Formats: sequence, structure tokens, C-alpha cells
Amino acid sequence: MNTRPPVRPVRFFHRGQVVEVADLPPTTTVLHYLREHAGCTGTKEGCAEGDCGACTVIQGELDASGQLQLRNVNACTQFLPTLDGRALLTVEDLGGPEQLNPAQQALVACHGSQCGFCTPGFVMTMTALYERHVDAGTRPDRQQLADDLAGNLCRCTGYRPILDAGEQMFDAPVQRLDRAPLIAAL
Ligand code: FES
Ligand code: FES
Repeated sequence: MNTRPPVRPVRFFHRGQVVEVADLPPTTTVLHYLREHAGCTGTKEGCAEGDCGACTVIQGELDASGQLQLRNVNACTQFLPTLDGRALLTVEDLGGPEQLNPAQQALVACHGSQCGFCTPGFVMTMTALYERHVDAGTRPDRQQLADDLAGNLCRCTGYRPILDAGEQMFDAPVQRLDRAPLIAAL
């Protein structure tokens, strides 16, 4: 007789809907889920041990006062069940070629990408820090940007144009993520 308790699905908000995942081992990483099961291959695998930032995604949750908090996390070191009750944003959720978001637009303008492998991760980290600063009405200086981007590695472009882009994205008219669907779902 099977005495194992029933396991309820992991539920989280992703790509505009609540997703339920019931049939994957609990040690499945968010990165593995995205690339192998959700078809979201914009999130890259580099080191697979939390060192390079190529796999950066944004995780959203409501704080005690009901405010949406967004933070960048490494998808390769996070197990899927930790997303339960949260929202997951990937580079596929940002602007496409027709409407780049401020981080994407600034990286283009500043020539902040060459091979592009690291770029989705940089875009996600930059987007998360952009949202945090717009929320707080602040603007980071170059050292703060360098600190915030320290978890993202680029082996070919060099960091000067990427930091230039980090500064420049705050010059454009404010263009935020669409928060309403996330808040409603959470
Ligand atoms: Fe390098 Fe995740 S793949 S930090
Ligand atoms: Fe090639 Fe960053 S653009 S690793």
C-alpha cells in the first residue's frame, strides 16, 4: 500500500498565467525547467553553479504590505518548488525587437553585447535594479551599478559599455514592467 502523502503541484505565475507543475523531481532547477520543459531558452546556462549570471531571471512576490518585490536570482541554483506562490519573469517577458525595454535599449545604444551569451542575464539583472530604483525614486551611481552587476560575467564585451548602458537606461522616459497582472495573480 502506498503511504506517501499526496503531493500538490508547484504553482507559480509565468508567461501570463498560473502554471502548475506536478510531475518533476523536486530537485529540478528553475533553469532546467525553463529550458527543457517550458521552451524558454532565452535564459542561458553557463557555469550551472551560480557564478556567471547567464541564467538570471526575476522572481516576484508580495511583501507583508502587499507591495510587489522583484529580485534577480540565478535560475541554475534555485529549485523549482521554491517558486511556489511567486512569479517568474524571464527575458521572454521583456520587450521584443519592436519595443525594447530600457535595459535592452541602452545595451544596444552602448554596444554592450558582442557574442550575446551573457546578455539575457545582464538584461534581467539590469531590469530588476531599474525597477528597484524607479520604485525608490533613486538612481545608482557607477559604483553601485558595478556592485549590482558583479554577479554577471561577460567574457568578450568588457564592462565599460555595459556600465555605460546601466547609467543610460535611467536617462530614457520611465518604462516599467507591467505589474498589474503579477499583483493580481499573486
Ligand atoms: Fe552560471 Fe547560473 S549558469 S550562474
Ligand atoms: Fe559575449 Fe558577454 S557579450 S560573454
